[in-house]
This record gives sequence, structure tokens and C-alpha cells, in this order.
Amino acid sequence: MQTPKRYTVTAALIYANGPIHIGHLAGCYLPSDIYVRFLRAKGEDVLFVSGSDEHGVPITIRAQKEGLTPTQVVDKYYGVIKNAFQDFGIEFDIYSRTSRPIHHQVAGDFFKTLYDKKIFTEKVTEEYYDETAKRFLSDRLIVGTCPNCKNENAYGDQCEKCGSSLSPDELINPHSMLSGSPLVKKPTNNWFLPLDKLQPKLQSYIDSHKEWKANVSGQCQSWLKDGLRPRAMTRDLDWGVKVPLPNAEGKVLYVWFDAPIGYITASKEWFEQPETRNAVSYGGKPKSNNWETYWKDKDSKLVHFIGKDNIVFHCLIFPAMLMVHEGFILPESVPANEFLNLENNKISTSRNWAIWLHEYLEEMPNKQDELRYVLTAISPETSDSDFTWADYEARVNNELAAVFSNFVHRTMVLTQKNFASKVPETKQYTKEDILVLEEISKFPERIGNAISNYRFREAQMEMMNLARVGNKYLSDNEPWKNPDIERVKTILNISLQICANLSILCQPFLPFTSEKLRRMLNLGAMTWSNAANTNLLPAGHQLGDPVMLFAKVDPELMKFQIQKLDKIKKLADEENAKLEIGNQQSAIPPQKDVTSFDDFNKMDIRIGTIIAAEKMPKSDKLLKLTVDTGIDQRTVLSGIAKYYSPENIIGQQVTILVNLAPRKMMGIESNGMILMAENDKGELSFVLPNKDGINNGSTVK
Ligand code: 2FM
Ligand code: ZN
Repeated sequence: MQTPKRYTVTAALIYANGPIHIGHLAGCYLPSDIYVRFLRAKGEDVLFVSGSDEHGVPITIRAQKEGLTPTQVVDKYYGVIKNAFQDFGIEFDIYSRTSRPIHHQVAGDFFKTLYDKKIFTEKVTEEYYDETAKRFLSDRLIVGTCPNCKNENAYGDQCEKCGSSLSPDELINPHSMLSGSPLVKKPTNNWFLPLDKLQPKLQSYIDSHKEWKANVSGQCQSWLKDGLRPRAMTRDLDWGVKVPLPNAEGKVLYVWFDAPIGYITASKEWFEQPETRNAVSYGGKPKSNNWETYWKDKDSKLVHFIGKDNIVFHCLIFPAMLMVHEGFILPESVPANEFLNLENNKISTSRNWAIWLHEYLEEMPNKQDELRYVLTAISPETSDSDFTWADYEARVNNELAAVFSNFVHRTMVLTQKNFASKVPETKQYTKEDILVLEEISKFPERIGNAISNYRFREAQMEMMNLARVGNKYLSDNEPWKNPDIERVKTILNISLQICANLSILCQPFLPFTSEKLRRMLNLGAMTWSNAANTNLLPAGHQLGDPVMLFAKVDPELMKFQIQKLDKIKKLADEENAKLEIGNQQSAIPPQKDVTSFDDFNKMDIRIGTIIAAEKMPKSDKLLKLTVDTGIDQRTVLSGIAKYYSPENIIGQQVTILVNLAPRKMMGIESNGMILMAENDKGELSFVLPNKDGINNGSTVK
């Protein structure tokens, strides 16, 4: 697209079913905040929206787990999340909620427009139903035993223990998570978005964005290659936006239909319900007059920041919805990140394997920029990355403290000591000074280009490189040793200009530090382009007192954090061990009803030997055996073909129930049953005497 006139930037509407962790921050909230802070610093017209996704099954599951109503769940977590974002310096123009009446209206209207345009196909399908809870069940609400690892708590779509993706039909003993009832299928009607028909348009849309990140384009192309299928945009649920049609009792919009519309709602809300706006400190408010400009004007650039699990919804389904609705611009860029791991393990809410933002803010107060810096430095932009506390400590100590903070502090202290905190004047530059000044004037463009192209790691590294340039310049010139006062003035003047540039250029990444630094330098509000100016602080300008911007990490704090993770790991290991024992125990079938001795005595069990064995034609299970029972030689069909091959069992002793009524199977009469033991994987093995000399015909009592 040509240079946009304005930007509509969205960050995923996260489910309000739990607090925010560092994976969420690295995935989309930090990158979007950096991007928007940069745009605002350039004086661009930006609307930055986000909020909580308060519908869908994830909310109802959390409510069930916590013994709360869905409303109580979303009310609880909306506050926790919103406050954490605010305290962390993520500056949305608005942080909305999809449970607000305005959203129900906007999403309902959107659906109705598509319905009136006859976009949807109405179809009856058979869906899982819980007769006790009297409701339909999504795959997530179905639990059972994983056929692969025997985990008894596998979901209808995935086993979290072994990671295999499943369908409810594959589960052993599938039942409802809500009531424990077995499943039945019932017919129900829903409205489907014909993504198959929209495929050609979506294909050209994706093809027209060759500049998208490889991970994003790759996922889209793979979906398109598989062929898109119609997808239901409604669900049989009582929690969500009601389907605005008569005869749609008990049906709500599919959460992935209403959630992205939440971006539109939030934009509308910012203009029409100003009391819901957030206070934004840098760069001011959106400049256009109404929400529609941000969503309908072709000169507006729509950018969605998301994690990789949301790609298909933002790159194919939401654009399809916008296309068929008509009148809306389409997402111009979807810079989705990959996942962040924690200490080499997948972050997991259910296993509590995460660093929760609200806890970090409490446990490590006033250290927002440390975490912002580390998360951006390891941002999973092109592949999954890993957060470790050791790396956190190293980056804070060696980069933020040793380079950034050290440079600024030395400059400020020397100026205070030698020039009473007034910017000294420069009479003459050396060749080296001129080179440094030239070099520093290039940073704003270099950093800006990287941010504009969503390369935030590189952008932040460049910002730190500017601090490195300053640090080196100061160390090389050693003004503290130099008796030439004019030279000292010049060195400190240049160093101070670098500090001023840094205060502007670090703002998207380290907003709290930028603010402190600007206060220290007594510098007013600046725009990004000011940073190219190497004479921002005029001679004689009065500076504030030096403050340490970053200190080395307190080893006690590190110890605390590492011990905290160790404890979580230990608990999880114990839980797993318990689960393992539980699974093993429950794999043992319960005792059958009591039987009388007389009944037992009716069974004639003997020891015999297999003297011939062959596969039964057309059967994977059965072997046809000839067994010498000591009484006779007889034919027995046995379901052991999966575990034994005929040639290996000739001469094998067996235990056999000889007086079982004869049974005909596949045209052959079987006379008796070989007794087998079954392990928890369902594998069979012969039951045998463990002493020699027990011959054919010996009885088993
Ligand atoms: O993954 C999630 O948490 C979803 N609630 C994201 C929705 S993003 C958008 F569509 F609103
Ligand atoms: Zn499994």
C-alpha cells in the first residue's frame, strides 16, 4: 500500500479466563505496543485497540473449574488483565470487553448483515449432546482416555499429556466434562460461512501479501492448499452473543465470529463512549473524527498483532467476513509471533508453568523495563524462543546496567561535578567527534525501519548499539583524566546529546526509562525525528540530578524466582506421578461379582501343549491351534494373532479351559479357551505354571 494516512492497530482480544503471562506479552502485546509507541512518536494518526474476549468455551470451562458463573470469571480476570497491562506500560487507546452491550449490538448487526445478504448456508449436523446437562458439547467439553498414552483426562480435541490431536470419537470412554454422562449425538441447525466458495478471493488476497512473515504466509498457504471448508458461525450455547434471528433460541455467535468484530466495537466505543478510553501518555490520541475512517478508508492501514495460534482466524476467516460484509478495509499486515517457552518447557496455564505478569509486577516492582527489554531481545519473531532467568540476569547486568545505565550515569555525574549540571558548550570538534555525530544521526532511521518492518529484536539491538557507541566514546576519550577543559566540555556535550537521542529512541522499548531519562535531562516532549538532531540540548541547558537507570539484578530476587519455578516443577512432577499411578490403577478392571465355589468348580482347566498352529484366513485376530490337552488333541481358536506368530508357538505350554461349550467361528468349531493375561496396553500373554513336570492334562484349581 502507498504511505498510509493512519493506522488501525489491534492486539489480540485475549480470553478473560486467566491472567496474562510472559508468553502473551512476547507473542503480541509488547510488539504491538512498541510499534504504536513508535508511530505515535512520529506523530502518526493511530488507533490502538484491544480488550478481553469474554465468550466461548474457554470461559465456561474456567467457570466450571472455579465454581463460578461465566460472568464472575470474566469480571475477575478483566480487571486483573487490564491493570497488569496498564502497570506494564502497554498503552492501548482502549481496552474493551466483548461482554459490553455495544459489542453485542455491533456483532449482532454484522451477523444480520451477512444473513440478509444470504451469505450463510443453514445446515443441520449431528453434534454431541449431554442429556444430563441438557446442552451440546464442544470438543473441549468432552473428556476420555487418550488412546495413545492412556491419560484419562484427554480432551475431545487434544491430549495435553502426550500432545496428540484427537477427535471425540477416538477417545476411550468419552463422556461429558460437565456431568460425566456418556455422549449422544443430536441433530442441530447452524449457519455456515462458505469459506470454500470464498477460497479464490482469499487465495488472491494472501498472494497479494508476499511481504508477510514466512510463518504467517506459510500457515495461510497450507490451509488454502488443503482446501477451505464451510465453517459454522453459530453454536448451541447459552454464553455469547445471541444469534439475532427468530427461531434461534439457545444459539450464540461462534466466538471466533464475534471476537475479531470486537476490534471494530472497541474502535467505535472509543469515539462514541469516551468514558471507556484509556489515558495514553506518549504521542496523544487518534486524530481522525470517527471510527469508520479507521475501518473503511482505504488509506488506513489495519495491522493485527497476534500469536501464531490465531493466524488462520485473522488471515482467512476475519478477512472473509470483512469481504462478504463489504465496505471494510482488509488487514494489511498480521505480524504473528511464534511461541515463547519458559526454561526450555512449553508455557502452560493448566500446569502453572508461566511467569504471570501481575505476580512479576508485585515481586519485582518498578522493573517493567527490564522485562520489556528481555522479552523483546528474545522475541519469538521467526521461531519459538526461550526465556530463562539466567538470561534475564545476564541481559540486565551486561546490557541495561553495564552499557545503557552506566553510560548515562557517567555522563551525568561528570557534568554535575565539572559544570554544575549545565550542558557545556563546544568550540571545536575533532575528526572522531564528527564521525560519532554522523553515526548517531543515522540511528533513528535504522531503528525506525526495523520497527516498521516488525523486526523488533533488531530495532532494540540498534537502540542498545547507540548506547554502546556512547559508552565507547566516553571510555575512549576519558574526560575524567583530561586536563584540557575545552576538550572535556566537547566530550560531555556530545555524550549528553547521545543521552538525549537515547531518551527518544528507547521510548518504544523502555518507556519508563525514557521518561526518567527525559526528566533527568530536563527535556520536553520530543518526536522521533528530533532524535536525528545531534544538538538537542543547547549549551547552558540546566540538567536534573543523575539517577541510576538500571542496577544489577539482586541475586536474592533471582534466587526467589528460580526457587519458585523449582517448586512448581516439583509439584507438577508429583501430580504427574500421582496421575500415572492413578492411570495404572484404573487400567485394572474392578473385581467381578462374587461367584460360588460350585460354579468355579464346574470349570475344567488343564495344562496342554500347542502341537500345531496356523493363521485363520481373513482374520487378523484368530489363530487356529491344535492343542494336546492330555485328554485329547483338539482344535481351539484363539484371538492371539497380534501377539504370537504360529511358527513361534508350536510346542508352547498353555492353560486351557477344556469344558467350555463348543463355539463356531468363521466356519470352524472351537473346543475350549486358552487362558491369557492382559497388560494395561491390552497385550496378551500365556498363563503358565512356573515349575517343570506339570504335564499335559494336569488340572488347574
Ligand atoms: O486466543 C485467544 O485468546 C483469543 N481470544 C484471541 C482472539 S483475537 C480476536 F479475534 F479478537
Ligand atoms: Zn495422550
